Amino acid sequence: MNPLKRLGRRRASVLALLAVTTLVTPAAATAAPDAVRASTLGAQAAQSGRYFGTAVAAGRLGDGTYTGILDREFNSVTPENEMKWDTIERSRGSFNFGPGDQIANRAAARGQRLRGHTLVWHQQLPSWVSSIRDANTLRGVMNNHITQVMNHYKGKVYAWDVVNEAFADGGSGQMRSSVFRDVLGTGFIEEAFRSARSADPSAKLCYNDYNIENWSDAKTQGVYRMVRDFKARGVPIDCVGLQSHFGAGGPPSSFQTTLSNFAALGVDVQITELDIAQAPTAAYANTVRACMNVARCTGITVWGIRDSDSWRSGENPLLFDRNGNKKPAYQSTLTALGGSAAAQRTGAPSPRSTAALPSSFRWSSSGALIAPKPDATHNIAGIKDPSVVYYNGKYHVFASTASSAGYNLVYLSFSDWSQAGSATHHYLDRTAIGAGYRAAPQVFYNTQQRLWYLVYQTGNASYSTNPDIGNPNGWSAPRNFYSSMPDIIKQNIGNGYWVDMWVICDSANCYLFSSDDNGHLYRSQTTVGQFPNGFTNTVIAAQDSKFAMFEASNVYKVQGSNQYLLLVEAIGSDGRRYFRSWTASSLAGSWSPLAASESNPFAKSSNVTFPAGTWTRDISHGEMIRAGYDQTLTIPACRLQYLYQGKDPNAGGDYNNLPWRLGLLTQSNSTC
Ligand code: XIL
Repeated sequence: MNPLKRLGRRRASVLALLAVTTLVTPAAATAAPDAVRASTLGAQAAQSGRYFGTAVAAGRLGDGTYTGILDREFNSVTPENEMKWDTIERSRGSFNFGPGDQIANRAAARGQRLRGHTLVWHQQLPSWVSSIRDANTLRGVMNNHITQVMNHYKGKVYAWDVVNEAFADGGSGQMRSSVFRDVLGTGFIEEAFRSARSADPSAKLCYNDYNIENWSDAKTQGVYRMVRDFKARGVPIDCVGLQSHFGAGGPPSSFQTTLSNFAALGVDVQITELDIAQAPTAAYANTVRACMNVARCTGITVWGIRDSDSWRSGENPLLFDRNGNKKPAYQSTLTALGGSAAAQRTGAPSPRSTAALPSSFRWSSSGALIAPKPDATHNIAGIKDPSVVYYNGKYHVFASTASSAGYNLVYLSFSDWSQAGSATHHYLDRTAIGAGYRAAPQVFYNTQQRLWYLVYQTGNASYSTNPDIGNPNGWSAPRNFYSSMPDIIKQNIGNGYWVDMWVICDSANCYLFSSDDNGHLYRSQTTVGQFPNGFTNTVIAAQDSKFAMFEASNVYKVQGSNQYLLLVEAIGSDGRRYFRSWTASSLAGSWSPLAASESNPFAKSSNVTFPAGTWTRDISHGEMIRAGYDQTLTIPACRLQYLYQGKDPNAGGDYNNLPWRLGLLTQSNSTC
């Protein structure tokens, strides 16, 4: 939003009619086939690409009620005790795979996944191991155990709990005392993971522990630091198992945060041993929902089938009663996985959409919720280009302030959209961000650096950081992502403007997208570790005619799928702003049209209803309400909401002085 480009903007609207003649109407996207709402836990979890598993005891496999439920409901199993050291290698060098094989072969025959549990653990460890005092001996013994066991189960185990429960309870955040730590030092975990990777490179390697579900606990932080360090140094680790043995209160309120913070390190997360005292319906539903809300939460395992099978049987913590009947928590779990109560009652499948997005959209709009609040020193005509995250019980909105004097930024927060209009506006020109041209902000939390980032345009692509999103004075002075405009942009920008910078990261890389008001979407990249430095390899990620691919691009990860969503603002044949959409399977991939035409737009006045009155015909620069707030920019697949800028259709005059307001679209054709 270069002030200089205002003239260009007005010209753009006038010339829009011309533009449409060159707009290539993309082929209709192929609609994702409707999935079926399932009536069992495993089938329902599979619809979002997850598994739902249980611990299995070999000794119960002769019980028909038990195996009936096992094979009906679960698509993953974990041997409850049969792969522990004291079963497999009770005496040195003598391996007993019988009970483990019984479970593994049974699962393989039924297409159930197998989680291997566990290779290195201080419990259920034979005394011949725990009495070793010589480091070389213990190292050899540990590595041999890992190698023999993993070799035996090669190709059968989806994920191994390589090391179990190595961290101490309490406030230390350190590893617990065990023969492994005491004799080999804290490096034993790294050593175990390296041996495991070379024994079976195709198995996922997990670290598994309990009491790491609450984000602020010292133990959680200790494990997080270890995983971060492993990822930074290239120590092989693929997943973190959170056992999730909960009391009746269920998961801590930060559980989803913990899952997504671990996931943001570039590992899968799994709920590996779930049981909840008295099995309250809400506690189970909350646990499942937290996992569903985190794309890399790949599966859930309950620690047993019936209450009578549980290691905590006195607390009745499971989903089936001792007669094998479904308990109320079963239903809330199925529902939280996305299953239907009706399907559950009748067993009949009913239509439902998958986690994938639909290929056309309908929306209902609020009225104008947020208007400028000029004060003595801020003569503001419009509030624009919002970025929003929901964090800590509040929406945090950053936006451009516009007037004929130019552009700067504003911040406001509120707990509910009904409060949005009365929130205080904090002008960021009074902070270290400073006065002058700053516009089109984008906010996210970088989980690795534990910093909030505000990305915005200043002529260059700039950013500020802040440890506390709620403190408007905490932002650092602007820094630039590039030393100057990348050559490829110089070569293609024509009479356009370099605008609307947007950062999104996957587990390996961060990407910086930007537009040129001349039909090009650019993409640069750096590694997650180097971010915010090192943006290079700038390429044209997508292009079309000038007005068909104008500006204000957003890129998101769609929760529970491998889809990314691209939105770009276009100018329609009526001269009004609207959004087109594309999807890709990777951030550096090529974009296929989703709802990408004027007749099938992502969001345009033609597919939006205005129950409170049509206050705008432009659906312009905005941002989706995300499922989280981190650098992965994950959005839900269902019931999308989009905060956008609109304006009185009759307003005209100086572009910078237009009366832009913010409103909220809610998807009205969501089928899930
Ligand atoms: C438990 C089993 O359920 C019991 O049958 C056994 O007697 C003890 O171990 N954390 C773990 C699991 O990683 O292996 C434990 O399983 C429960 C706690």
